[in-house]
Amino acid sequence: MRTCSCISLSGGQGKTTTIFFTSLLLAQQGKRVLAIDSDPQANLTFYLGHEVQPNQPSLLEVLTGQVSTEDGIYETSYENLFLIPADRGLFKVSDYLSSSGTGAFILKLRLKAVANLFDYVLIDVQPSRSQLCLTAVGASDCVLIPVEANVKGMNSLIDTLDFLQEQSNLMAFTGKILGVVPFRDRWVGNTQTLEGRQNIEAMKEFVGSTPILASIRESEKFKSAIRQGKLLSEMGQTDLQYPFEQIVEALGYE
Ligand SMILES: Nc1ncnc2c1ncn2[C@@H]1O[C@H](COP(=O)(O)OP(=O)(O)O)[C@@H](O)[C@H]1O
Ligand SMILES: [Mg+2]
Repeated sequence: MRTCSCISLSGGQGKTTTIFFTSLLLAQQGKRVLAIDSDPQANLTFYLGHEVQPNQPSLLEVLTGQVSTEDGIYETSYENLFLIPADRGLFKVSDYLSSSGTGAFILKLRLKAVANLFDYVLIDVQPSRSQLCLTAVGASDCVLIPVEANVKGMNSLIDTLDFLQEQSNLMAFTGKILGVVPFRDRWVGNTQTLEGRQNIEAMKEFVGSTPILASIRESEKFKSAIRQGKLLSEMGQTDLQYPFEQIVEALGYE
């Protein structure tokens, strides 16, 4: 089982989009995928068509040990793709995680119980230096850092790398940074705009040896695919899907 988080410490950086399409793609390729929504905003849960009912367990109950990990996992409408959902109540878990003293390792521990059931676990992470973020990173063998190809994205990249370095110094993060995924890169037709190119060049200079992966182009087609719950290739937009194919490659085989 390979566990990968999408982390970026600002909103709107493409985390949920990346987890959504990568999960669908892996599942379509026949891999058994567990998507985990660890953001109380619960966008991934919504994208995957799940609604947490008041009496049903979600990530909150899994983390606090009120239910077994398996009991927090739901089927989705996609073959091979399963979900541990979130709802707004998830913000309450921070107190539990911080008082437990070993918050960074709790998700890792909970996932051990289902390690034989999945090839990949993909985690959508809350964009803040929270206990929830810490436990997701602590459970991950690798992380992806999506960031907008603009100044806000550059700042999110700086904060995120800083956070990962801190966690790595504390041995709470022992995984690998798979790469930075530039998000909403502007192209006109088949040509990248100068602005997009310059922003990505600036990121390359900043990150040194960390790979900058293929960028996700700015396009309404992604939103439309998300709304319809489809892969871009299923909408006839195979070229736009390339960043997720590259991510699947970078994740390696299980
Ligand atoms: N390629 C794209 N171009 C423009 N907007 C996009 C694209 N892909 C997704 N979006 C939209 O951008 C917004 C932010 O993306 P999201 O993945 O939710 O970011 P995060 O999870 O980091 O907050 C969402 O409303 C999403 O629908
Ligand atoms: Mg999100």
